[in-house]
Amino acid sequence: MNNPQYDLVILDAPVWMMRLASPMRALINQEKYRLKRIAFFCTESTSGGPSVFRSMEELCEKTPIATLEITQADITHFDDSKKLSDFLNICQKAVSKENDGAS
Ligand SMILES: Cc1cc2nc3c(=O)[nH]c(=O)nc-3n(C[C@H](O)[C@H](O)[C@H](O)COP(=O)(O)O)c2cc1C
Repeated sequence: MNNPQYDLVILDAPVWMMRLASPMRALINQEKYRLKRIAFFCTESTSGGPSVFRSMEELCEKTPIATLEITQADITHFDDSKKLSDFLNICQKAVSKENDGAS
């Protein structure tokens, strides 16, 4: 991550063994002091998201502005557009506000 001044960084990790996937753990440890504002997104077969989000928050030492947990069923069996659009709306608003403040 070259630019420390991104308005928002969305971190996305798969759930592994009910835990945060180790590559994301390593990335957060390496980059956390450069993350200004964050949102979390995770994918999983069935479960583990809340615990993964807790780990990410602890590692980042920051509260995410939004989280989105996507299971396999979300993708294949029902329309998940509402939770996806809610998540994206929060992210978009956060970035717009930031840019309004800068101008
Ligand atoms: C080693 C490993 C462990 C996994 N453990 C879990 C788990 O504990 N709970 C779960 O719901 N899904 C689990 N999964 C499924 C992944 O979370 C899922 O396949 C992944 O989020 C899909 O993203 P990807 O296409 O980027 O891998 C696991 C997958 C792997 C490879």
